[in-house]
Amino acid sequence: MSAPKILIPFYSRTGTIQRLAEAVAEGARAVGAEVRLRRARELIGVDIMSSVPGWQESADAMNALYEAPTADDAVWADAIIFGTPTRFGAVSSELKAYIDGLGGLWAKGALNGKVGSAFAGSATPHGGNEVTSLSLYPVMAHLGLIIVPPGFADGVMFAGAGTPYGASVVSGNPPAGPTDAELAVGRFQGKRVAEIAKKLITS
Ligand SMILES: Cc1cc2nc3c(=O)[nH]c(=O)nc-3n(C[C@H](O)[C@H](O)[C@H](O)COP(=O)(O)O)c2cc1C
Repeated sequence: MSAPKILIPFYSRTGTIQRLAEAVAEGARAVGAEVRLRRARELIGVDIMSSVPGWQESADAMNALYEAPTADDAVWADAIIFGTPTRFGAVSSELKAYIDGLGGLWAKGALNGKVGSAFAGSATPHGGNEVTSLSLYPVMAHLGLIIVPPGFADGVMFAGAGTPYGASVVSGNPPAGPTDAELAVGRFQGKRVAEIAKKLITS
């Protein structure tokens, strides 16, 4: 039986979403999935990146670890799990730029029937991580993806971390985390998406 192929395109500026993305990948790999982790690249200028100590260094370190996501990655995948920090209650422009580059695939219907899922982070508990995951739901619907949320489909969802719409991290300021409970939700989301994708490709 073939392994489900999971693409995790994420944006992270200071590493919080990166660590949650690694947990999502771990959960997917644990049930036999093949995973590609990809980091969307910067859109803002060097002036802004250098205005906060550590931003550029953090971005450089992640870019050394992860390739940028491509349209071919989306074609390869059976499931796409998007990860983003909140930007004023919505998806980061860096991740959205990757998504907007998928228009050619959308026009051909090439993503129809793949699985889609999303996770997010915010600095504060009510700073918009739920609505940020939800901001990707219309996008996934337009792309033709079958949306698979974590729901309350596992005991980890009752531990006070994560949301039924997507794993989440409340990073604080300066950003830190995720907590063990937040990572557990990330692992569950990766596992659940991989299991559903596996059922779809073998049905
Ligand atoms: C331009 C900008 C806008 C942000 N907007 C919000 C926001 O609306 N609510 C919030 O709680 N955090 C907000 N944040 C904080 C980040 O979402 C948060 O620190 C995130 O977890 C960092 O993830 P990272 O370490 O992976 O970059 C914002 C940060 C930036 C730079």
